[in-house]
Amino acid sequence: MDLSRAFWEQRYGDNETGWDLGGPSTPLRAYIDQLTDRELRMLIPGAGRAYEAEYAHRAGFRNVHVIDLTDAPFVDLKARCPDFPSDHLIVGDFFAHEGSYDVILEQTFFCALDPALRDRYVRKMWELLRPGGKLVGVLFNDALFADHPPFGGFKADYEPLLKPYFPAVSMEPCHNSIAPRAGRELWLHAQRPLSYSPVACALYDRFEAAAVTRRPIKLSMIDGGTVEGIIDDLFIRDGADWLRLKSGGEYRLDAISGAE
Ligand SMILES: C[S@@+](CC[C@H](N)C(=O)[O-])C[C@H]1O[C@@H](n2cnc3c(N)ncnc32)[C@H](O)[C@@H]1O
Repeated sequence: MDLSRAFWEQRYGDNETGWDLGGPSTPLRAYIDQLTDRELRMLIPGAGRAYEAEYAHRAGFRNVHVIDLTDAPFVDLKARCPDFPSDHLIVGDFFAHEGSYDVILEQTFFCALDPALRDRYVRKMWELLRPGGKLVGVLFNDALFADHPPFGGFKADYEPLLKPYFPAVSMEPCHNSIAPRAGRELWLHAQRPLSYSPVACALYDRFEAAAVTRRPIKLSMIDGGTVEGIIDDLFIRDGADWLRLKSGGEYRLDAISGAE
């Protein structure tokens, strides 16, 4: 189905916003309450009327950013919280957003996306987090709907998507959901591994182009060696990017210094 900006704008225009809690979600409020570093760079994607952003802002967090496809719900946020920095209100597509955050909060954004985008959601979250940064929040553990949002799913569906990027991901039954969602939510905690420095985008793009066109490539390794071959696959393992050559050899991308 069409889940474009126009779709969401119309939902706000028609006031068909059944997801809207009218205040910060209790699990996210409890999470924010135990944070001590007021300088943390936070992002709330698909933030809607952004009650969690307002809550964090009022609690003294100065680097809270929200992004939504449409500015319709931000009108409400600005009316409630006029001193929320307008340059932290980002109108645009989460998948096109660039940045580096310490914490990203999930609250009924994942379930609003076409399930075909779930892989990309996880990859984008990983990209937007600094090494060691965390994706936290709530995910439905409920079938919900298959043909329109909120799209459902279960822990067993999410785990294989998240694990390659966030090996230590946990999703535990949420004990402090709001009453109508009690027993149907998971508390998601996914930390981007510290140990991996991603390769420069330009180099990654060259690998991707070589993989798509099946062009032979010569890799210069950090240890001084070289390897030649055709890239069969680019993949994530244990939170790091890897490539596999047709010959079967697998190389972590941060062990490669160049390619020709
Ligand atoms: C179900 S609503 C949830 C809003 C808010 N998180 C809440 O719980 O009240 C989903 C929100 O995601 C936004 N959205 C959908 N796709 C998006 C995308 N690709 N990038 C940014 N925002 C998006 C919609 O405009 C909508 O405000």
